Amino acid sequence: MEEAVTRYLRQLPDNTLNEPVRYVMAIGGKRMRPALTLLAAGMYRSDVSEAVKPALALEVFHNFTLLHDDIMDKAPIRRGQPTVHEKWNQNAAILSGDAMLIHAYALMCEAPAHCLSTLLALFNQTALQVCEGQQLDMDYELSDHVDHDQYIGMITLKTSVLLGCALQTGAVIGQASPEDAEHFYQTGVDLGIAFQLMDDYLDAFGDPAKVGKRLGGDIAAGKKTYLLIRTKELCNAAQRQKLDALLQDTNQERRIAGVLALYGELGIQHETEQLVKHYHDLAMDHLHAISLPGEKKQPLIALADQLLVRQY
Ligand code: IPE
Ligand code: IPE
Ligand code: MG
Ligand code: MG
Ligand code: MG
Repeated sequence: MEEAVTRYLRQLPDNTLNEPVRYVMAIGGKRMRPALTLLAAGMYRSDVSEAVKPALALEVFHNFTLLHDDIMDKAPIRRGQPTVHEKWNQNAAILSGDAMLIHAYALMCEAPAHCLSTLLALFNQTALQVCEGQQLDMDYELSDHVDHDQYIGMITLKTSVLLGCALQTGAVIGQASPEDAEHFYQTGVDLGIAFQLMDDYLDAFGDPAKVGKRLGGDIAAGKKTYLLIRTKELCNAAQRQKLDALLQDTNQERRIAGVLALYGELGIQHETEQLVKHYHDLAMDHLHAISLPGEKKQPLIALADQLLVRQY
């Protein structure tokens, strides 16, 4: 996949619009979405070259969402480096992001003719859902009454459907049956929920050197994460009073340290791990339902396991 990324970056004209594109795509990233597409296609055929452009489209799309997400979240660091809006400015991050979205569509248009309209429809639906999820994420910053189901609905849209789309894209290119393609989609969605739960977990409990983001960024931004929602469910009256006071505290360092201490008191780390495991299990149920021999599924099972222990 890195080779395809390098080729994509090399053919971009040398101008100020593309500088942030090169920057963000060259500073790293797990490349998980294209990996999912290629793994799914690889379960049906040994030559997955037809899936490379659509896989790259999803990675470019993902990187576009990060440029805009970091503006919305006021994030200073991504992949251990300054974010694009910090290194350049907000307008550069908006416009280079826009260009990446267009690149993503151009790449998806190079999908094989036999499934082009199916994949474009799936991509359209997914891209719009990601926007809806990102809007909910911001709406919820301003609300004190976000419950568990609303949170799961929001992360399904902002994060999980893209993983579902990545797996289904590979399956469709491999000419999977409609039933199997749907199981691939649901595998990705459930994995994506586990993945975003881990992302929230790492935002609070991860090693910032490994995660490459600022620790406690979600607490600082007032994000309604599972960690916070579960805290509200489990806390007693005194802890609730403390939490409410902390969430009002304008001193960010004190607020982050105080909320992290409450998470510790209430065992939120363990609570989150349990829910990650639950969604991982649901993903595996869908994967097992796909009508392919078990050994074909091993690489995807291995990647899904990595999600449970990921540190970045
Ligand atoms: C970050 O995604 C955004 C989320 C959906 C949580 P990744 O953790 O996959 O980011 P990279 O591409 O590996 O940096
Ligand atoms: C990001 O969720 C989801 C999208 C980019 C669509 P987060 O805001 O939690 O991702 P990070 O933590 O900044 O990577
Ligand atoms: Mg965000
Ligand atoms: Mg963010
Ligand atoms: Mg996050």
